[in-house]
Amino acid sequence: MENAKLILDGKTFELPILIGTEGEKAIDILKLRAESSYITFDPGFGNTGACKSAITFIDGEKGILRYRGIPIEQLAEKSTFVETSYFLINGKLPTKTELKQYSLSFTRSAKLHKDMKKMFAGYPSSAHPMAVLSAMVCSLSGFHPELTKLNPSADDIQGMAAQLLSKVRTISAYSYRKSVGKPFLEPRDDLAYIPNFLHMLFSTPRKEYKIHEDVVKALQTLFILHADHEQNCSTSAVRLVGSSKANLFASVSAGVCALWGPLHGGANEEVVEMLEEIYRSGGKVEKFIEKAKDHTGNYRLMGFGHRVYKNYDPRAKIIKERAHALLKKMGIHDPLLDIAVRLEEIVLKDEYFVTRKLYPNVDFYSGLIYKAIGIPTNMFPVLFAIGRLPGWIAHWKEMREDKDSRLGRPRQIYTGDKIRDYVPIEQRK
Ligand code: CMC
Repeated sequence: MENAKLILDGKTFELPILIGTEGEKAIDILKLRAESSYITFDPGFGNTGACKSAITFIDGEKGILRYRGIPIEQLAEKSTFVETSYFLINGKLPTKTELKQYSLSFTRSAKLHKDMKKMFAGYPSSAHPMAVLSAMVCSLSGFHPELTKLNPSADDIQGMAAQLLSKVRTISAYSYRKSVGKPFLEPRDDLAYIPNFLHMLFSTPRKEYKIHEDVVKALQTLFILHADHEQNCSTSAVRLVGSSKANLFASVSAGVCALWGPLHGGANEEVVEMLEEIYRSGGKVEKFIEKAKDHTGNYRLMGFGHRVYKNYDPRAKIIKERAHALLKKMGIHDPLLDIAVRLEEIVLKDEYFVTRKLYPNVDFYSGLIYKAIGIPTNMFPVLFAIGRLPGWIAHWKEMREDKDSRLGRPRQIYTGDKIRDYVPIEQRK
């Protein structure tokens, strides 16, 4: 394909075109600044490609999501979270032996250092579990300095990944138990990833939590659906921090913080709070829809809209089905699910939402599944973080292995004062 041509101040610049394997096109402006002194302006990076990546493909117009070529629907139906994480991080589906070894590395890494366990005591029980999680993830650098070399080997990266994937589950369970004043339980060697998480969350020293197969299946699906989403806010945070050669634990900790925000992974918590508010107001969904359409305030319908999807989020479609199936199986009638369905029905016909292509996103129905399992609202973003971890690790690894990757450092258009003199304090008015 021919180069793109850009005319600036009467001079023509030739800009190479890049084409991805799915036909995605980009104009390469890498040399534009040096040759012209112009930068490009794109707040929120809505139309900026920050890297080349072979991990995830999204077609937001068609509602397509694939991990390394495999449609998300197939993985959600047939894979497990552990297998999907191996696949995302290593780029190939594992053999039986590889999967066994991989799972074993999780079992070996599940326990927290006794000094790390003491750190939980320093937090008030009201501390948000995402605050605890981000700090603990970064602290892993202090407990595993042997893995955090400037130029980690492939084995070091595998070691960090196993520590993170396994320990994040233990840390998450402990941050929940701390918030409800319950003692910590050790992970069990005989349990698989999700049952072990449920055990650490809900068992008591005297009574083992009864593992419900449908609950495991629902969490399995949710974690797989959250596992990666290319250059979203938190993954970009992980890449940006990691681009300075910060270690994986520190980089992922930044990802947890980015995910916490209500416009990103914190939305699942906000959705259930919104549905509860609608319920308390007598189920008047129309009032909330009108409020979200009124631009004089900044109220939004949480769980609707997406930067990339301009069609139904394929993850939301699967989660909606799973929410209905799980609640039915568990014999739960949650009025919030009825409200959610009614809200969606009205929104999908409303001109404001139709013209802006705002559909339910991954966070709209996920909270109702967590709620049915008995997970408290402030833990919802933590579950998103557990799910997103393989993606963060895969992107950090891909960036480290990419010889063309550079320090992340955007430019700006300065709009402040022109040069002026310092005024001594006595002369200031
Ligand atoms: N409710 C009402 N109006 C909305 C909503 C919403 N949820 N989302 C977008 N809009 C409107 C927005 O006001 C704007 O209207 P106008 O063109 O008249 O100014 C238009 O739609 C475009 O919105 P935008 O803010 O320019 O879009 P964006 O791509 O910057 O924002 C978003 C994407 C996800 C931040 C936004 O849709 C939103 O705030 N949604 C609610 C929060 C949410 O559910 N977040 C979870 C996202 S999915 C999980 C993840 O991957 O992070």
